[in-house]
Amino acid sequence: MAATDLERFPNAEPEPRSLSLGGHVGFDSLPDQLVSKSVTQGFSFNILCVGETGIGKSTLMNTLFNTTFETEEANHHEECVHLRPQTYDLQESNVQLKLTIVDAVGFGDQINKDESYRPIVDYIDAQFENYLQEELKIRRSLFDYHDTRIHVCLYFITPTGHSLKSLDLVTMKKLDSKVNIIPIIAKADTISKSELHKFKIKIMGELVSNGVQIYQFPTDDEAVAEINAVMNAHLPFAVVGSTEEVKVGNKLVRARQYPWGVVQVENENHCDFVKLREMLIRVNMEDLREQTHSRHYELYRRCKLEEMGFQDSDGDSQPFSLQETYEAKRKEFLSELQRKEEEMRQMFVNKVKETELELKEKERELHEKFEHLKRVHQEEKRKVEEKRRELEEETNAFNRRKDAVEALQSQALHATSQQPLRKDKDKKN
Ligand code: GTP
Ligand code: MG
Repeated sequence: MAATDLERFPNAEPEPRSLSLGGHVGFDSLPDQLVSKSVTQGFSFNILCVGETGIGKSTLMNTLFNTTFETEEANHHEECVHLRPQTYDLQESNVQLKLTIVDAVGFGDQINKDESYRPIVDYIDAQFENYLQEELKIRRSLFDYHDTRIHVCLYFITPTGHSLKSLDLVTMKKLDSKVNIIPIIAKADTISKSELHKFKIKIMGELVSNGVQIYQFPTDDEAVAEINAVMNAHLPFAVVGSTEEVKVGNKLVRARQYPWGVVQVENENHCDFVKLREMLIRVNMEDLREQTHSRHYELYRRCKLEEMGFQDSDGDSQPFSLQETYEAKRKEFLSELQRKEEEMRQMFVNKVKETELELKEKERELHEKFEHLKRVHQEEKRKVEEKRRELEEETNAFNRRKDAVEALQSQALHATSQQPLRKDKDKKN
């Protein structure tokens, strides 16, 4: 770097100079050290199988790893899709592999398939979240952390020979920014050679026109660039699975036997099983792990941290420290808390006022009711009093008439008792 540059950028580091060594030092053993360390630590690899019930997921897994995994057949009556992870410890030579196979159980079995992709997306995100939480811990133990992030999604396409179903396109579109997708045509022995060729072209065309990004075998490493480029052109692989062994010539091979012939799983003229195994396990397993970490997890982590308010620089491209971000977030949180508190207090005061008004209104209504009742009562009382007076007057009048009648009666009685005496007197005279 020129002296002027150093003056302009005092913090800039000077360019390193190349020196030659006088003899063997030993750091050329670094790759061996790395290999040895990784072998001791062991590897983890997580495969997600997405495809209709009974499409041949479990059979293919057994065929790929040449073993028998525990599987449970799914029925077609699951209410929704759910993810079933199963982890196995496998060993080949001195290499330990912690293999997790995750089955999307019940995929494609619901009448309404609108939300079929959601449990799968949620599962993938949950694994990223677990890893992020481990990374953010103060005491991290990433060294012996069981990494459950999905490294590859094998998407099983039904061998219809027509085109992809909309469920396939929607699901792959939702997954393509979260996981490496390798589409495969399942049960490829059920479709003829010429139809298969057309089907593959159709599928790739549909994926491109719908903007679905599938995993491309990397071509930047010279050692595998050629084979990977050739294999990219063979996608989607058309596979056949079987754990049944059939005698062909004098050899026992894994195959599916039909009345008209034998489909050999590992015969490249019969299907792409060997291509899939080569690409998935023997050549690109590490790249799948790497892409998961550097591309998909990185995207999840970035979005999540941005959502939480973290950023690398402020508006003027000044680097933001974690401390500053934390302080800013804390201030924001406290003022939000204060605002909420004030809002609640105001709400409480309003509520009390409202209740007070309601009570006053009720009191007024009660008072009015009381006054009304009082008036009614007084009116009633007045009427009763009037009636009583009238009755009294009537009784008095009646009594007066009765007295008069009685007086008249006694007068009359007196008069009639005097009359015979007078007649007798008149006779005597
Ligand atoms: P679930 O887990 O119940 O959803 O099923 P699955 O997708 O795991 O399918 P499984 O491997 O249990 O296979 C279902 C049926 O398909 C079995 O009868 C298998 O023998 C058959 N099968 C599996 N692979 C192939 C294949 O490549 N070709 C044909 N023709 N049949 C296959
Ligand atoms: Mg199964």
